[in-house]
Amino acid sequence: MVSAAAPGTYAPSAQTVLEARDLTTGYGELAAVRGVDLQVRAGEIVALLGPNGAGKTTTLAALAGALPALGGEVRLLGKPVTGPVHARVRSGLGYLPSDRAIVNRLTVAENLKLGRGRPDEAVDRFPALEALLRRPAGLLSGGEQQMLVLARCLVARPQVVLVDELSQGLAPIVVQDLLASLRREAKATGVAVLLVEQQVRRALSVADRWYLLRQGTVADSGDADEASAQRLVTTYL
Ligand SMILES: Nc1ncnc2c1ncn2[C@@H]1O[C@H](COP(=O)(O)OP(=O)(O)OP(=O)(O)O)[C@@H](O)[C@H]1O
Ligand SMILES: [Mg+2]
Repeated sequence: MVSAAAPGTYAPSAQTVLEARDLTTGYGELAAVRGVDLQVRAGEIVALLGPNGAGKTTTLAALAGALPALGGEVRLLGKPVTGPVHARVRSGLGYLPSDRAIVNRLTVAENLKLGRGRPDEAVDRFPALEALLRRPAGLLSGGEQQMLVLARCLVARPQVVLVDELSQGLAPIVVQDLLASLRREAKATGVAVLLVEQQVRRALSVADRWYLLRQGTVADSGDADEASAQRLVTTYL
């Protein structure tokens, strides 16, 4: 069993890659998330935690450009961004919503070619993909599909990746493997990761820092240590 690597030390001075400043967002006129401030720096994994309906997916969607900012701003590499998802992707953002966006009837290799990177680099990162390259993506297991979308995203060399519920529907050992690869990628390439996760302990096993959302606002934040995990589990969740 490959377990997630222990969180390393990130340089607190590392560049802020993605930032929300007083961000308000939601659906139509309705603000579901209000006044969020958060930063993600190069090479760190930041967990975005919170109970069901707290606004995690909404926050990620606004950071990615899938929802408009109703107030405040999103900054990517120090510059305010307002464009749609594809424009932010061109500027260095990777976005993995919880519905694994693969084309079922295309093979794994073809799905990889839809991304912005080279398929062979995806196989270098995830050797298990090699044996699956000719298989229609719709026939993969959930874990294999998640590996595919993660690989496709990472080989495009994003500066920051937003991941919504990587673990959804997957066996714990598969989740551990995927989280461990995110951890390796962050340390090796300096990619920043914002990880939405329901399970506090699982998220904090790979994260450097965390933010807690409750009812659409940031209720707390801190470093990902055992004391925080304990506090989060007993106080909030
Ligand atoms: N498409 C939508 N239209 C209107 N309201 C929505 C929509 N999607 C979500 N909401 C509302 O926005 C709030 C935040 O939802 P969101 O999906 O961001 O929560 P979450 O933290 O991701 O929850 P979960 O852990 O269940 O995924 C909730 O009150 C939800 O009902
Ligand atoms: Mg959600």
